[in-house]
Amino acid sequence: MISTKVKIVEVGPRDGLQNEKEFVPTEIKIELVDRLARAGLANVEATSFVSPKWVPQMSDAATVMAGIERRPGTVYSVLTPNLRGFEGALEARADEIVIFGAASEAFSLKNISCSIAESIARFEPVAKAVKDAGMRVRGSISCALGCPYQGEVSIEAVVDVVERMKALGCDEIDIADTIGVGTPKRTREVMAAASKVFARERLSGHFHDTYGQALGNIYAALQEGIEIFHASVAGLGGCPYAKGATGNVATEDVVYLLNGLGIETGVDLDQLIEIGDFISRAIGKPSASHAGRALLTKKRDGVAACV
Ligand code: HMG
Ligand code: MG
Repeated sequence: MISTKVKIVEVGPRDGLQNEKEFVPTEIKIELVDRLARAGLANVEATSFVSPKWVPQMSDAATVMAGIERRPGTVYSVLTPNLRGFEGALEARADEIVIFGAASEAFSLKNISCSIAESIARFEPVAKAVKDAGMRVRGSISCALGCPYQGEVSIEAVVDVVERMKALGCDEIDIADTIGVGTPKRTREVMAAASKVFARERLSGHFHDTYGQALGNIYAALQEGIEIFHASVAGLGGCPYAKGATGNVATEDVVYLLNGLGIETGVDLDQLIEIGDFISRAIGKPSASHAGRALLTKKRDGVAACV
């Protein structure tokens, strides 16, 4: 049964901006996080405490976290690949730590320089430290619907990592289509299999829109009872280790879809459209959101866009 309420995790400031070649000024990142939280996004993935050699765009993680306003009730998440990252996140008073593995061995090696088994062993002390600190931990599984290096990824491989992340104590687990190759049928199958081993209401769908399938995949996952989805305002982003992958599905498009289905998100679409425009101008790229572009045109010119 389709849920009447959905949580949207806004990943634009992290997943979106991490891929920008030109360094995005820290004040812009702070304003982006603050405006997204004010627009009603109850969970904002703000930055990552990763090696600046690997992802230079996130090198200002501590400054971003120190500069944002903390809205009561908003969960500010950050990515950490190791204990060093966790220490930075703890000092920065993040609410939720995201550990990130993959269902594909080849991608794991490219993204975090180790095998899947090694990554789980590396996350073990991180997850324990997170729990000891009374924080939430989320596990993200990349390439759950396909890999840029190895191609096909089996459902068994995804379920295996879900089980390993569950054993680490993850509060939430993300099924991520890093390169946007998944289609609705496969999405349903993967979600159904994952929810046999982990609570359905704590599984999330993280869909990139490279092949234009993300909204279809969200609808399919909704039919499978999934109620948490990741999205990126203006469809920002890609992945530095997945060549050619485009951004996450645009938050504006997801909110428009869910509004149409009568599903509550708590997000103010009007504010979101303005935020999409703000960040698109700031990075000098057109918004990738269909609903964002159409609604902005309608708002500014009083007519609906026809392209
Ligand atoms: P490594 O080079 O194998 O490890 O990287 P290392 O321990 O030799 O560290 C290299 C350098 O980084 C050293 O500096 C460390 O001190 C430093 P040096 O001694 O050479 O001056 N370092 C750090 N600095 C700051 N914070 C840290 C940290 N750790 C080490 N936490 C490592 C291994 C895991 C560190 C590296 O591969 C890494 O940081 N990877 C991050 C990759 C990343 O952020 N990818 C994008 C996020 S995942 C994603 O987007 C997918 C997702 O959206 C879901 C989906 O769509 O699939 C979540
Ligand atoms: Mg991603």
